[in-house]
Amino acid sequence: MTPTPDGAILVDMSARNPWDRIRIVEGDLTQLDVDAIVNAANSSLLGGGGVDGAIHRAAGQDLLAECRTIGGCPTGEARITRGYKLKARHVIHTVGPVYHGGDSGEPALLQSCYESSLRLARSNNVRTVGFPAISCGVYGYPMREAATIALETTARFLAAQDDIDEVVFVLFGRAALDVYLAVRAELSAI
Ligand code: APR
Repeated sequence: MTPTPDGAILVDMSARNPWDRIRIVEGDLTQLDVDAIVNAANSSLLGGGGVDGAIHRAAGQDLLAECRTIGGCPTGEARITRGYKLKARHVIHTVGPVYHGGDSGEPALLQSCYESSLRLARSNNVRTVGFPAISCGVYGYPMREAATIALETTARFLAAQDDIDEVVFVLFGRAALDVYLAVRAELSAI
């Protein structure tokens, strides 16, 4: 905190306001120019459809080759690789839960995906991160519930540290974007 000439103390509130470091956009995650994009992978880490397929297509074969050396990833955890032909320097692969109604530990596992990915970003000096809507496609997680977990978890993480400058949520389609914007409006108003 730096005193001004007349002795007043200026407190940089932006450093502690996580919502200033969260951006929500519609688009294609593979085009995002950030330090790391997060892949909604499966536990094999050997590619798939959805955003997983799009990331592997955009990154090229070398991404799969590196993923093969990792030996998989349990649900709720995250692993980091290089980004290869992507604009993003790294890919953080996380495995979301398959949704079975919400009473089989899915919320905690989804929260763990965001926490694990952000911790891994921080420990690899990644300062800008892009997330898709993890588990909201093939894995069937309802968008509103998943968006609430994603945004609450990320805001809480950012409020506790300044190492990550920005988290961008990249949504596929207007409907998903509108859900995230509505949830953010509710959460940031509290
Ligand atoms: N950019 C941003 N978001 C995308 C993109 C993209 N290029 N492609 C798809 N999405 C969105 C989907 O519309 C959905 O909202 O990402 C969200 C996650 O959907 P999935 O990719 O199906 O991921 P998930 O539901 O977590 O299922 C993971 O699907 O692709 C396989 O190998 C993957 O087995 C794993 C499973």
